[in-house]
Amino acid sequence: MRTLAVYNLKGGVGKTTTAVNMAYLSSQQGFKTLIWDLDPQGASSWYFDSSHTRKISAKKILQPQEIAYKYVQKTGYENLDIIPSDVSFRDLDHHLKEQGELTYFSEVLNQFRDNYSLIILDCPPGISHLTDNVIYASDGILMPVIPTWLSLHSYTQLKTYLKDNQLPRRHIYPFFNMVDVRKKLHMSWLRVPPSNIKKMLKTSINTSSNIEKMGAHRAPLETYDEQSDIAAAYRALWKEISKKISVF
Ligand SMILES: Nc1ncnc2c1ncn2[C@@H]1O[C@H](COP(=O)(O)OP(=O)(O)OP(=O)(O)O)[C@@H](O)[C@H]1O
Ligand SMILES: [Mg+2]
Repeated sequence: MRTLAVYNLKGGVGKTTTAVNMAYLSSQQGFKTLIWDLDPQGASSWYFDSSHTRKISAKKILQPQEIAYKYVQKTGYENLDIIPSDVSFRDLDHHLKEQGELTYFSEVLNQFRDNYSLIILDCPPGISHLTDNVIYASDGILMPVIPTWLSLHSYTQLKTYLKDNQLPRRHIYPFFNMVDVRKKLHMSWLRVPPSNIKKMLKTSINTSSNIEKMGAHRAPLETYDEQSDIAAAYRALWKEISKKISVF
């Protein structure tokens, strides 16, 4: 089992959109895939029309015994299951802090080892104990970056934080998202990414109104727009990241 987190310190950069599309493409390739919506906003749960039908708490779902497993739901797509978000997930951070060990969340994820090839974590923005745990638990961090100076600043901030706290950094894979081909800065960074961005993926995703339509369809892009260039770009992104983290 491999674990892929979709994360950026910055909000609104396309984490959920990426997580939903990567999860769907993985499942379509025949990999048993679980998406865990860790964000109390519940955006990926909304795309899959999933919510918890019984009472849940952040504390309960983080028990080392096989508790989280009881909260797995079907998405309606073959090979694709979800742990929907809950407003109580705002306390995940607090409970992980109480546990103290950075490896704690990875132990929680171990219960899925025999049943899934890939877990995708749709992470909330920000830096927290949840972030530290996710960074430890993941084989790869897929990071959407909008080609702007402020995004570059957030990226640098995160790298400094990870370095200062001796957290692993080698498995972070940024890619440019919401690229606007009419913008000079976007095109120039696409040709030559800023030198302090390491391990930049080759694939980038343009700004597209077809992606916005995921909200109308409440479905992954591939299900309604398979023929488009943007769907092809997501397939290329999946191919690239799945190779990096060796999904099999
Ligand atoms: N390549 C793209 N082109 C156009 N719109 C996009 C693209 N990627 C994402 N979006 C849109 O941008 C908005 C934010 O995307 P998304 O919710 O995936 O970001 P996020 O990083 O998960 O946000 P948050 O930090 O709030 O969790 C959504 O309306 C989404 O449809
Ligand atoms: Mg999100």
